[in-house]
Amino acid sequence: MIWLIGNRGMLGKELSLVFEHRGLAYIGTDRDTDITDPASLSSFVVQHADKTPFTWIINCAAYTAVDKAEDDFDLCRRLNTDGPANVAKTAENIGAKLLHISTDYVFNGKGTLPYREDDPTDPIGIYGLTKRDGETKVFENNIASYIIRTAWLYGKYGNNFVHTMLRLMKDRGTVSVVNDQRGSPTWANDLSNTITDLIIAVDSGKTLPFGVYHFTNEGDITWFEFAREIYVQGRKLGILTKDCEIKPCTSADFPAKVTRPSYSVLDKGKIKSALGITIPEWNTSLGKFLTICEN
Ligand SMILES: NC(=O)c1ccc[n+]([C@@H]2O[C@H](COP(=O)([O-])OP(=O)(O)OC[C@H]3O[C@@H](n4cnc5c(N)ncnc54)[C@H](OP(=O)(O)O)[C@@H]3O)[C@@H](O)[C@H]2O)c1
Repeated sequence: MIWLIGNRGMLGKELSLVFEHRGLAYIGTDRDTDITDPASLSSFVVQHADKTPFTWIINCAAYTAVDKAEDDFDLCRRLNTDGPANVAKTAENIGAKLLHISTDYVFNGKGTLPYREDDPTDPIGIYGLTKRDGETKVFENNIASYIIRTAWLYGKYGNNFVHTMLRLMKDRGTVSVVNDQRGSPTWANDLSNTITDLIIAVDSGKTLPFGVYHFTNEGDITWFEFAREIYVQGRKLGILTKDCEIKPCTSADFPAKVTRPSYSVLDKGKIKSALGITIPEWNTSLGKFLTICEN
């Protein structure tokens, strides 16, 4: 039995549906079982004590408001560092494996080559710092843990870049988008299927070393290039029915509390060879997402 934490968030909801679709038994919790409160986690374990034991905990709960985090350090740390520590301790206590989600923001973004799992971390904002410290806490508290770092996540549920762009492109004649941050979009459905592949592989006896793995869609682009493709595909599919000019701009045109990494590309060689998977290109997945979820 899988315990899915954060099941009402963007990734958690998508993962719930993929588990259902692929026949994995799970129970989901969200704010009702507070990861910042060890007593809340243990009381859920006690409530569940007479049922099928948990063999996996998947933690999708997090503080994800990157800008707001700069003014909200305490809550962000409780959720992204102390929370994962509590979840990992709980997993250790009940003998479950933990799969925790982390982010490209653990890196400073000054690189020029895709980041590998063992490259030094150097977060440049509160969100990235608390997520990096959360990774450390996970392994300190439960060695039987997998961490998947992902980036530029979008999906059917919750606020994300694709939803925002479609809304702006429907409302406005011009949309300006930053062209000086490079990364790889990730469809939550592709990530959910890879998480499911990992669980099935391990449960089937495959040896998959615990540790950090990177997963995003294939290819790397800027936010401007992503927006331009959303527009092109949106027009082709009839989701967008009027012209809109997509203009490149720089991060300096959108002053923000926090500097975002300018290069966020993750090397996915480790997860591809460990699971024997091929990962869809970002534009192919965008097309599927728009066709299935937005049409
Ligand atoms: N979104 C991205 O672009 C992105 C990129 C890279 C990595 N990630 C990582 O991917 C993971 C999933 O992200 P996401 O975008 O799906 O996040 P999300 O939509 O913000 O979902 C997080 C969920 O956790 C819940 N939650 C908040 N506080 C909680 C608590 N104390 N106890 C239990 N649950 C709590 C949230 O509830 P409320 O909504 O009520 O707060 C929400 O349902 C996170 O680890 C994130 O850091 C995301």
